Amino acid sequence: MKKINKDIPQRLIPPQICVSKSRRGGDIQKFYVKTFGCQMNIADSDSMGKLLLGRGYLPAEKPENADIIIINTCTVRQHAEDRALSYLGETRKLKKKNPKLKIFIAGCVASRLKEDLKKRFSYLDGFIPANDTVKLLQLLETSKSSNTGKCENLSEFVTITLGCSNFCSYCIVPFVRGPEKSRSLDDILSDIKMLTDMGKQEITLLGQNVNSYKFHKMDFADLLLKVEEIPEIKKIKFMTSHPKDMSNKIIDAIDDCGKVVRQIHLPVQSGSDRILKLMNRKYTVKKYMSIIEKMQKKIKDVSFTTDIIVGFPTETEKDFNDTLKLVKKVKFASAFTFKYSPRENTKAYAMEDDVPLEVKKKRLAKLNSIFYDR
Ligand code: 5AD
Ligand code: SF4
Repeated sequence: MKKINKDIPQRLIPPQICVSKSRRGGDIQKFYVKTFGCQMNIADSDSMGKLLLGRGYLPAEKPENADIIIINTCTVRQHAEDRALSYLGETRKLKKKNPKLKIFIAGCVASRLKEDLKKRFSYLDGFIPANDTVKLLQLLETSKSSNTGKCENLSEFVTITLGCSNFCSYCIVPFVRGPEKSRSLDDILSDIKMLTDMGKQEITLLGQNVNSYKFHKMDFADLLLKVEEIPEIKKIKFMTSHPKDMSNKIIDAIDDCGKVVRQIHLPVQSGSDRILKLMNRKYTVKKYMSIIEKMQKKIKDVSFTTDIIVGFPTETEKDFNDTLKLVKKVKFASAFTFKYSPRENTKAYAMEDDVPLEVKKKRLAKLNSIFYDR
């Protein structure tokens, strides 16, 4: 396997989630997302939709045609909450007609009224708390494996941080997800316990920037060592890492944790210092390369995957060639490559999107050819 390419960012969550599972076979399932409430909820519905699309699910035109219904709720006003609950009541009929239908409730109501809803709507298949849309993936796998009665040996996702405070200048995540927040060790361990109780042996620790995990005195390196100690867990992955936070302590911890998979996703975004600065990535090419080299030296058989954006505002041929140079040097196992697309609210949005689409396409094709040609 050499190349993973999406020329537009289909999602703003870590990429391997989409790719690793969308390749599985089986019937195509349809999903329907009903959204109540605010912009945040619309963004969450959007991101859940993209998660499902990325995994090979298709949207259903109406709930009657769906295999999965997600009701994304809002609790800011009583009226919205009432409407969501009344809609939820309606779905009971659909579930009666099609017992295989999965119904999930997401958003603020799911967080606020979980226990009450469990009692009132016993046919619900799961709860997706606000700001934790990735939980949907976990629930889908859970309901699948309990349906089939067997345990698929797939990696399960455990969210360790929510949101992001990095404000890379092109990225909308900090605006839709809010500031970075680390979950408590207890919460993380209890999620893992739930998975190991189900027989799961592989987990992926998830966050926009897992390397900056910090809860009280515990940092990401400490967390890795804790998870390594859980006997039922045989394989540990994590994503996404930010080069600026890949400390020596974390590198040592990866080395010490034999269960950690030796392929690290370390988005570089560009091989030009000037563009990296404009992107607000807070590292230089030299710094990035020094991390790569340090890890190669320390961790036996380590390999890397990455994310790259081409056509960021003002990117010249020279900047782009610097990216090609870096890619050739690191020999990434695979990469997720994107054409820059302006996102409202971001800092880069104020810059002119001055690299013509045709040039972006050419650069993307050239970049991708490095992976195909290997
Ligand atoms: N345009 C293009 N690619 C983007 N990404 C994030 N925002 C944008 C954007 N506005 C890419 C980055 C990030 C990945 C998840 O999506 O490469 O690492
Ligand atoms: Fe976006 Fe940067 Fe945060 Fe990743 S680290 S989610 S690219 S702002």
